[in-house]
Amino acid sequence: MCSLIIRKKRGGALSRDEIRWMIQGYTSGEIPDYQMSAMMMAVCFTGMSGEETKELTLAMAESGDVLDLSSIRGIKVDKHSTGGVGDKTTLVLAPLAASLGVPVAKMSGRGLGHTGGTIDKLESFSGFRTDLSPEEFVRHVNRYHIAVAGQTADLAPADKKLYALRDVTGTVDQMSLIASSIMSKKLASGADAIVLDVKTGDGAFMKRLEDARALAAEMVNIGKMAGKDVTAVISDMDQPLGCAVGNALEVKEAIDTLRGCGPEDLRELVLVLGSLMTVKAGCAGDVREARGMLEASLGDGRAFETFCRFIRAQGGDVSQAEHPEKLPAAPFQMEVPARENGYVGDIRTEEVGGVCLMLGGGRVTKESRIDLSAGIVLKRKKGDAVRKGEPLAVLHASDRAQMEAAAERLSRAFLITGEKPEREPLIKEIIG
Ligand code: URA
Repeated sequence: MCSLIIRKKRGGALSRDEIRWMIQGYTSGEIPDYQMSAMMMAVCFTGMSGEETKELTLAMAESGDVLDLSSIRGIKVDKHSTGGVGDKTTLVLAPLAASLGVPVAKMSGRGLGHTGGTIDKLESFSGFRTDLSPEEFVRHVNRYHIAVAGQTADLAPADKKLYALRDVTGTVDQMSLIASSIMSKKLASGADAIVLDVKTGDGAFMKRLEDARALAAEMVNIGKMAGKDVTAVISDMDQPLGCAVGNALEVKEAIDTLRGCGPEDLRELVLVLGSLMTVKAGCAGDVREARGMLEASLGDGRAFETFCRFIRAQGGDVSQAEHPEKLPAAPFQMEVPARENGYVGDIRTEEVGGVCLMLGGGRVTKESRIDLSAGIVLKRKKGDAVRKGEPLAVLHASDRAQMEAAAERLSRAFLITGEKPEREPLIKEIIG
């Protein structure tokens, strides 16, 4: 392994057999975390070719079982985000699409780096199970049109181990590692069609649009090679999505959105991704028709009903969905005031994710326990006017001293300008 690390450090390529050997060895425990950390860091510095990325994806997809979804009726659709701050899209999108009869077979992850993860968020519901067996997963999609599960030990286990390792070793933001991580899970989880939400901006792993575009193209190509119908939507992550950042706080905002309220950007993203999923599943003729169907479901309560059924089916306490005040709540709250009059010109979004992590909303080591109640609720977003002393955000925390330090850091993440900034489009491009 050491010679492979040295070769990658010097910018050399790894062969198909070497990649397979390395992935098998790491999955079985023969290759230790410290050597794999060094390899991941070498990849961050020198990169991987398209061929190496494809081989890494296949080796990880084949490191465990491949789910057989053939007994699920219809075209199974999955969705995956490359990771963002306040990205609670799946919590709204999955039940919304399912409410139209789209079979949503969704494999989700935990928080990664400064970004949150759907599985952690769903665990805000007491008793909620994400460790569905393959049989339960299939049964739930057939019965409720929706199942959201974490990776089992048998499904792309190489990615499961690598994901946890990359999370705490500063090795997340590399295109080949992200593409292979996402696509290995998607290939192993057996869906027919996949909609990818590729984030770009300060809060994303791909800060620049051209890098996001390259990542999207890489994943669409890998999907095509494996015979999957893949579309990638490149969306803005230059500010948090919606207003809530932090697990239970995001669940509350998702519930508002499912009830037909919620922030405009979250609703719009959900409608764009949901329209694509609905068309891919054959439940609508085109995206216009699909959008109308999705809007109707948000408006007449079907989306929220499907969400409640899904929470109950996976063992969660549905009264927390009906009464979100029963979700985990932090004992301390603190406003972060604006230091001057003006407009919010910029929000350093990765820093907002970092503040959430600092409050306990994410993992610092592989063994860390998350504080589900911790996080931030933004009171102003880009372009909003603010007067000195008015709140930019409210922190939610379990530790008062930590909250005070976090307030100072969050205050510096907001840039106040004299002029109202131009509005950035939420959807940048659609590829594939
Ligand atoms: N999501 C994943 O599943 N993997 C990554 O590497 C990044 C986002």
